[in-house]
Amino acid sequence: MTSWENPSPFIFDGPVPPDKLIGRHQECETLRRWVRAGRFTALVAPRRFGKTSLIGKLAAEAERADRIPTVVVDLYDVASITDLVIRLERAWAEHTPHRLRSRLAETLAGAQVGVNVAGSGFTMRLAERPDTDPLPALHTLLDLPAKVAAKNSRVLVVLDEFQSLVHVDGAEAIIRSHAQHQRETASYLFCGSEPGMISAAFDDQARPFYGQVQTFRLGRLDPAELAKAITAGMALSKRDVTAVLPDLVAASEGHPQRAMLLAHLLFSQLKPGGIATAESLRSALDAALDRVDPEARSVLSGLDFGSRKTLRAIAEYATPISARAGRTLDLPKTTAADAANRLLRLGIVEREEGSRRWKLVDPLLARWLRERYATRSL
Ligand SMILES: Nc1ncnc2c1ncn2[C@@H]1O[C@H](COP(=O)(O)OP(=O)(O)OP(=O)(O)O)[C@@H](O)[C@H]1O
Ligand SMILES: [Mg+2]
Repeated sequence: MTSWENPSPFIFDGPVPPDKLIGRHQECETLRRWVRAGRFTALVAPRRFGKTSLIGKLAAEAERADRIPTVVVDLYDVASITDLVIRLERAWAEHTPHRLRSRLAETLAGAQVGVNVAGSGFTMRLAERPDTDPLPALHTLLDLPAKVAAKNSRVLVVLDEFQSLVHVDGAEAIIRSHAQHQRETASYLFCGSEPGMISAAFDDQARPFYGQVQTFRLGRLDPAELAKAITAGMALSKRDVTAVLPDLVAASEGHPQRAMLLAHLLFSQLKPGGIATAESLRSALDAALDRVDPEARSVLSGLDFGSRKTLRAIAEYATPISARAGRTLDLPKTTAADAANRLLRLGIVEREEGSRRWKLVDPLLARWLRERYATRSL
């Protein structure tokens, strides 16, 4: 087992600091170009593909190389306009660089809407006056790029977990009404993980941002880059995984978090100076399946019966409508086709580019289904 003195170098939980990111140079450069051009951009990727990590890298590079400060707002599960005000206030307090803080403080103090540069104003205001209308504060916060950006410069506003806003009536329209007048002073990056919800926000004529946003899809990690980074991480802590590296990388299918989890679990099988064998990789994969067990069950329990069967069909046969899966799982083609589209919108499955093959986004969920509920010999 890993000891506390020698923790695994592979981060498998939460955002990765910019200097620890594997790859993503190209992605960061492209996003920086779009940011400098003042575009509205949607950064879309399945869960745990590294969106928040990439935002951290983009923020660091935009500040260092372009002098563009980045305000990152976490909208996860935002519940109301009041909640949105609190998130925005905290984001500005946390991310405004030193050189702009006095202008921020002045602007907020002048507005007299309860928000402050420390990020705690609005919750204090609510404690004093629970019936405070949050709208004036929201307008003030959304106006900040125009008020605070330095001359001939701009601010990047990142709205992470943008899909959560769908539950807050009117919020998207209010944000758009400010953003559209800030082409000279702000760039906006909207991030989200459920393809269905993101395309609904930007491709639906009835929604405020319809047709105004350019989409950037964050893909899997390059196998060669992954292999290099894993070898380096192992070597640093005196483990040699050369013999199983191709199988480890193949098992991760380039899924960033799954790759790091598998590397961590393989690391945990080895002592310093240890050399990985097929058996250590097998143990790491078993440990990974144990670890994803509760999550896999929770994903399945959130799906209807037809979708669960379709997911199994895709995991085993790489298509929702295989004749064998249809017979074995009692899955009619029409049910499978509808369910496959639902799973696609939820970001649970995807279609491989340029081929007819379907696959699960999460290689460990696919393996779990294939091993726990096999209907064909492995
Ligand atoms: N470029 C990368 N290099 C190394 N590991 C990465 C990279 N991108 C993502 N990861 C792995 O994925 C995990 C999740 O990263 P992150 O939180 O940035 O993803 P996310 O897409 O924002 O996830 P969520 O959808 O849950 O918000 C990290 O803990 C790390 O294990
Ligand atoms: Mg994230």
